[in-house]
Amino acid sequence: MSGDSAPNGATPPEGGGLVASLLSHAVVKVFGFLLLVLATFVWIGHSVTSLTGGRARTTGPVEMTPEGGETIFWGKGRCYTCHSVGGRGSAVRGPNLGQFGEKFAQPIGVRAAGRARERSEKTGETYALTDYLVESVASPGAYVVEGYKNEMAIVYAPPISLVLDEIKAVITYLQSQGGEIDLAAILEPSEITQRYFARIQAATAAGGGDPGAGAVVYEDNCIDCHALNGEGSDLGPDLSAISGRGLKFLAEAILQPAKTLTEGYETYVVVEQDGRQTIGLKTRDDADEIDITKATGEVITIAKADIKEISLDPLKSVMPDDLSEAMTVKDYQDVLSFLLLLKGE
Ligand code: HEC
Ligand code: HEC
Repeated sequence: MSGDSAPNGATPPEGGGLVASLLSHAVVKVFGFLLLVLATFVWIGHSVTSLTGGRARTTGPVEMTPEGGETIFWGKGRCYTCHSVGGRGSAVRGPNLGQFGEKFAQPIGVRAAGRARERSEKTGETYALTDYLVESVASPGAYVVEGYKNEMAIVYAPPISLVLDEIKAVITYLQSQGGEIDLAAILEPSEITQRYFARIQAATAAGGGDPGAGAVVYEDNCIDCHALNGEGSDLGPDLSAISGRGLKFLAEAILQPAKTLTEGYETYVVVEQDGRQTIGLKTRDDADEIDITKATGEVITIAKADIKEISLDPLKSVMPDDLSEAMTVKDYQDVLSFLLLLKGE
């Protein structure tokens, strides 16, 4: 847009020009964000309702049967690019999911029970066979099969982008490998399975953002204040386990930081005797001095004797609330899916 309007805005722009300038890039972007967030929330509400409705649902052409799952396994889901099943297929990057030699004496529908026992011991939660199967697809990093690397694809993110119903079908296919099909474990999910189903749906709802691109957005916009697994700045909270808080929380935490102020990261306003004002996080509090860390990371040490007034501002976060202006809608979707899909654990 060329900014050749008259100096001091003397002549008002013509009709078309006015509309065009109103619909300037920034405005469109802000509306885009509002729409996106609104759509996201409506979608979550809808999907939670249908999830808790507990009825058998199949969407489109996916059938929740081993045959439906087989089609996805050997097609859209691209599982076959890393996994063979018994004598079928030639991929070796991931474990064979059928019975294969001594290493895989039991097919996945049977050996998942043993893995589930290991997970129960490790986590203290009771895992059933299907819980393990669902976890291995929803959060592959949670249990890494011995002799393999944590390099399974997140199959509900681009480029594979399976939706929940497709994953459910694949789970029945896995169950059927040497084992019994257990539809009840999918239709009336345990707490563990339900949690993973919700995570898959949230990721889909995040607009199918691209977590790879989201990692770059994170490095450009967030890493100066947030760490992942201890790497990055500790000005704001570490975000390694933030996926557990869910999409709605994350969406709000980014767009309206003050609405969800994290405990321990409240915003202090300090006025000194000479009228100087400092706003930031209180990062040290000794007998006669405090440190206030500003959003820029600058640390200001103030003698307690110099403080005229110190208060909390509940309506303001040290995290900027105009981050969305620096990001496109796609950046926002990408960073959301990046944070939601962190392998964590
Ligand atoms: C990019 C390669 C890749 C793709 C694609 C992939 N996987 Fe995997 N998968 C792996 C690797 C590597 C492991 C072993 C490491 C681990 O446990 O995470 C694994 C582990 C598993 C396990 C656990 C096996 C066991 O013995 O406990 C299951 C189940 C599984 N994958 C299912 C699937 C399904 C279903 C799909 C498709 C929807 C799929 N994988 C797509 C690489 C892949
Ligand atoms: C200038 C520093 C700063 C920047 C830049 C920043 N944040 Fe924050 N963020 C904070 C602070 C401080 C808090 C804690 C106060 C609050 O909850 O608002 C926070 C809180 C959060 C929370 C809530 C964490 C929890 O455990 O409750 C999330 C999620 C978050 N930020 C995500 C992001 C993302 C994503 C970006 C980049 C797009 C980002 N932040 C950029 C400083 C920052």
